Amino acid sequence: MVRATPEVRTGDPAWVVETVAADFEAASRRAFAHRQGFTVAIPGGSVATVCFARLARLAIDWGRVEFFWVDERAVPPDSPDSNYAVARSLWLERAEVPVARIHRMRGEAQPLDRAAREYSDELVRVAGAPPRLDYVLLGVGPDGHVASLFPGRNETAEGRWVLAVEDAPKPPPRRLTLSLPALTHARRVVVVATGEEKSAAVRAALADGSSSLPVARVARDARSCMFVLDRPAARLL
Ligand code: 6PG
Repeated sequence: MVRATPEVRTGDPAWVVETVAADFEAASRRAFAHRQGFTVAIPGGSVATVCFARLARLAIDWGRVEFFWVDERAVPPDSPDSNYAVARSLWLERAEVPVARIHRMRGEAQPLDRAAREYSDELVRVAGAPPRLDYVLLGVGPDGHVASLFPGRNETAEGRWVLAVEDAPKPPPRRLTLSLPALTHARRVVVVATGEEKSAAVRAALADGSSSLPVARVARDARSCMFVLDRPAARLL
């Protein structure tokens, strides 16, 4: 199928948050109009701390939103490093999301590879085979990683929906992540980048058609993709 060029929107930090919130709400309305529920995958990192409290205030029927994660660190769910813990306190508890709608990655499980397979099964159960999430929200690292898909790793290889990562360059090194095909198969992918340290990765994604960085592969392969940037992150465009 023909992939659309990513839409790029740039504004000040408060506008970034409002733009993500409005887009998320619009996508939930589209999903509810056509399907039973709204399946989303969410990140950790700065996107969580910057956007989640605002997303929690949206007037959405949270009982119909299925929450997955794009990645998780191999830590217990009550660790301050857990992406689930951050989402729980900033979003899920505040919006009173029913526990049955929360599909957390079991980062504390051993072996991680089995947790990846089990998460893949759960994703397929809720989002179909191959899984098609309605909405994937992503941050991007200064090195161009998204979720826990890091540059130059074979984790970006096709064929599996969820992967265990044993040696991530960003601490902690052990992680679970959705694969590139699981991300790009989504109905909508929104990449949020703020801060000048993200500007080179953003440029590679949007202005370098040959970049192999994970963020660039998402920008190229996603069916509907939007980049929401503050001005420092957009500086090199
Ligand atoms: C994590 C996140 C990760 C994050 C990027 C960017 O576990 O760290 O889920 O995928 O989105 O690493 O992080 P920052 O936005 O904090 O730079």
